[in-house]
Amino acid sequence: MVRKNTGEVFLSAKGLTREFGFGEHKTIAVNNVDFEFRRGEIISIVGESGSGKTTLAKMVLGLLNPTRGEIYFEGKTRDISSHAKRKQYWQNIQAIFQDPFSTYNIFNKVDAVLLDCIRLQGGGKLSRAEKFEKMKDACKFVNLKFEELSNKYPFELSGGQMQRLMIARIFMLHPKLLIADEPTSMIDACSRATILDMLLKLREEIDMTIVFITHDMGLAYYISDTVYIMEQGIIVERGTADEAILHPKSEYTKRLLGDVPKIYEPWDFKKTSA
Ligand SMILES: Nc1ncnc2c1ncn2[C@@H]1O[C@H](COP(=O)(O)OP(=O)(O)O)[C@@H](O)[C@H]1O
Ligand SMILES: [Mg+2]
Repeated sequence: MVRKNTGEVFLSAKGLTREFGFGEHKTIAVNNVDFEFRRGEIISIVGESGSGKTTLAKMVLGLLNPTRGEIYFEGKTRDISSHAKRKQYWQNIQAIFQDPFSTYNIFNKVDAVLLDCIRLQGGGKLSRAEKFEKMKDACKFVNLKFEELSNKYPFELSGGQMQRLMIARIFMLHPKLLIADEPTSMIDACSRATILDMLLKLREEIDMTIVFITHDMGLAYYISDTVYIMEQGIIVERGTADEAILHPKSEYTKRLLGDVPKIYEPWDFKKTSA
């Protein structure tokens, strides 16, 4: 699963910090964080609830300003100071949040959702037939039939169909970076595996970098090239999945690992049959 030949660093941060509130009520949600994300790399950011994962993701997405620190994008200091610059930055980045409903405008039918992706990719002037082909391709990638969906509203889809539609969108937009904030926690284990497989397939297809935000060590171990462990806003552990999860250095990681079932260990039949 783990791919060693990831590409160049294209997104990084130095001293990234975000505080909320003042004085006695001050929370340092993200505290002096450094990271480097490479093309095609799969990164997991693991931490308990309240450790600052979503705040970090929002700063990377440009939805929240850092209190201190810098984000670098493609070798330059990221500049999203104007509407036009933000829009340009967002062409490179997509996010999946816990609740798939929040991704869609509920008054747009599925074909409008997909047509919007074509427009965002600069394909607004394509012929009807060409647009139709692109939408069909994207649905095929996620094993959905465009004909069955095109006339429906997002709320008429099942949870699984909605997740797939979300991945079809990403397939069409082919961002350089996808941030998935606990994307699979609301679906069952079976469709969870399917969604993960599709995301990994997508990584191969378009050399996308994926950042998974999760509290699931087993998932992080299974899918990641690089793992960051976060405790109260601080990155306390960082390394390959093997380094960070099988040979952790920090006490915090060791404690976290002690709290979860060890599904990342090879299955020991002797133990279970005894
Ligand atoms: N908008 C906000 N205003 C005040 N405090 C916030 C805000 N967003 C997050 N926090 C606080 O920052 C800390 C980190 O939160 P968050 O990034 O949501 O953690 P996680 O995603 O790891 O659960 C928490 O203590 C949370 O209460
Ligand atoms: Mg969160």
